Amino acid sequence: MTELHPDIERILISEAEIQKRVEEIAAEIDRDYKNTGPVVLIGILKGAFIFTADLSRKLTTPHSVDFMSLSSYGDTTISTGAVRLILDLRKPITNQHVIVVEDIVDSGNTMSYLYSTLMGRQPASLRTCTLFKKKRDSLDVPLDYVGFDLPDVWVVGYGLDYADTHRTLPYIAALKKEVYS
Ligand code: PRP
Repeated sequence: MTELHPDIERILISEAEIQKRVEEIAAEIDRDYKNTGPVVLIGILKGAFIFTADLSRKLTTPHSVDFMSLSSYGDTTISTGAVRLILDLRKPITNQHVIVVEDIVDSGNTMSYLYSTLMGRQPASLRTCTLFKKKRDSLDVPLDYVGFDLPDVWVVGYGLDYADTHRTLPYIAALKKEVYS
């Protein structure tokens, strides 16, 4: 068995479980967009770069991929509450079928910001997809495709980071509290 990184408390979701769930989400999207025509997948950097790449390669629905880069956590584990737009889309999305792809919805601030910003650009349709979601009482944004619910601990891997580290772990793991507190 490979030794865990010393910052890691335990693995919460294995690589195989993630890959299986990504396939299931791709199949759901394929079913939903069967008669719709091409889709634009918008991956949200940095965290969603791995999920977006895997999801894109599993979709049979014709689609293009674009990216936006947003940040609200900086190098901490507490959301600043203010979402910063760092990089915008290359092309307009007016009259296109759009799916926003996030790695995680935690407070929901980022997805809410994205939803209202992208709706303002008048796409033909807009759906949201996130691989991971923290348990929250209320979210003011609809989540159409959700991979896994996560407990309220800081997690890393599969694109998710702590101060820009651990993003490339193939699994989702809880970080030891002493690393971030
Ligand atoms: C993370 C994650 C989501 C957002 C979710 O991004 O990738 O975009 O936080 O948190 P929220 O629901 O509380 O808004 P972060 O700001 O850490 O930037 P990064 O993706 O570049 O790491």
